[in-house]
Amino acid sequence: MTWHRTISMKALEKVGGTSVKAGESVIYLAFLGGKLYAMNGVCSHAKCILGHLDSANSRVKCQCHEAEFELGTGKMVKPPVVAQNAPMEKLGLSTFPVREENGFIEVDLPQ
Ligand code: FES
Repeated sequence: MTWHRTISMKALEKVGGTSVKAGESVIYLAFLGGKLYAMNGVCSHAKCILGHLDSANSRVKCQCHEAEFELGTGKMVKPPVVAQNAPMEKLGLSTFPVREENGFIEVDLPQ
């Protein structure tokens, strides 16, 4: 595992959640209720980049077909509108350790 520096904490606080490049990966970052979250930023359905933060429900919504993922676990909690019978238990996204270091968000990713 290796820590990768991404955007500033101030930038993340402004937007709440966003996808960023970290190493060779795209990671979705969120700051909600005083807590940082990091998960794979590529949707498991058809590989769109996530997404819209639903802060009321602590979820991220994919903008392509509206699948929803739980922030803390990466679990798919709503299937894509075009694939209502998708096996949601197999379509969860990986989550990663995340921290603030010297004003920047860092994510610990496998090498
Ligand atoms: S690509 Fe995300 S729901 Fe289809």
